Amino acid sequence: MNLQKINEFAINTILQAGRQIRESFSKELIIETKANANDLVTNIDRKIEQYFVEKIKELDPSHKILGEEGMGDRIATLDGPLWIIDPIDGTMNFIKQGRHFMITVGFFVDGVGKLGYLYDVMRDELISAIQGEGAFLNRQPLKKLNPLTIEKAIIGINSSWVIPNGKINHEKLVKLIKTVRGTRSYGSAAMEIALVVTGKLDAYLSMRLAPWDIAGGLVIANEVGAVATNLKGQPFNLLSQDTFLIANPSIHQVLLDQYIELIEEKQHSK
Ligand code: IPD
Ligand code: CA
Ligand code: CA
Ligand code: CA
Repeated sequence: MNLQKINEFAINTILQAGRQIRESFSKELIIETKANANDLVTNIDRKIEQYFVEKIKELDPSHKILGEEGMGDRIATLDGPLWIIDPIDGTMNFIKQGRHFMITVGFFVDGVGKLGYLYDVMRDELISAIQGEGAFLNRQPLKKLNPLTIEKAIIGINSSWVIPNGKINHEKLVKLIKTVRGTRSYGSAAMEIALVVTGKLDAYLSMRLAPWDIAGGLVIANEVGAVATNLKGQPFNLLSQDTFLIANPSIHQVLLDQYIELIEEKQHSK
């Protein structure tokens, strides 16, 4: 498998998809809801995912595709070549703000991340990585992350996870927010991951993300030395939803040990 060639294919396809999204602002946007009234999807999310599926099947029909909008394949295993795609990450921002959304793509072979992409469509900034060959911002190499202390860290977290929810130790999260230099919330997991891998945020955590939110980011994280796990410190489960933490390597373990404690779900008694 020629990874360089697949990388060029992926970059061209992502840039072309980005152009289509920018052009879509002059056309009609059809907004629908999915699981609940705030879970939005548009005709453009679907159109862009369909575009990726067509291009990848043209490249190699044996490659499998896992996309948020379900236009790819049903995936039960990570065996073989697999593309994991979020055509628009931050759909709410796309609709409301016309910015602050990303295309993100990961290419995995037998569960191992080979290629990763985080594309800020409106800024035209593409972060890409090839396993073992480093990460790049618009083809310029990205540096490894510099160590820092938790007191100097800026972390990304959604306010919904800070409200007491019975799933995570609330006191410890409050202590974290009081300890760090600042918190941010951007509304696009891929954008928050992009900020962590470029050292503009020092950590981002979530109680629930899907494989397509983070797959591309995982490959890039490895190349800059960012550490990405679930909130138990284990590898993220790419076949289901999971909790997620990506952080500068100097604070990842500190976050897990001192500030993040999941509350195990009680077993229902029979
Ligand atoms: C969402 C965004 C958001 C995160 C949600 C995701 P979508 O993705 O990444 O920041 O908090 O969990 O579902 O639906 O806009 O692709
Ligand atoms: Ca969505
Ligand atoms: Ca997403
Ligand atoms: Ca999406």
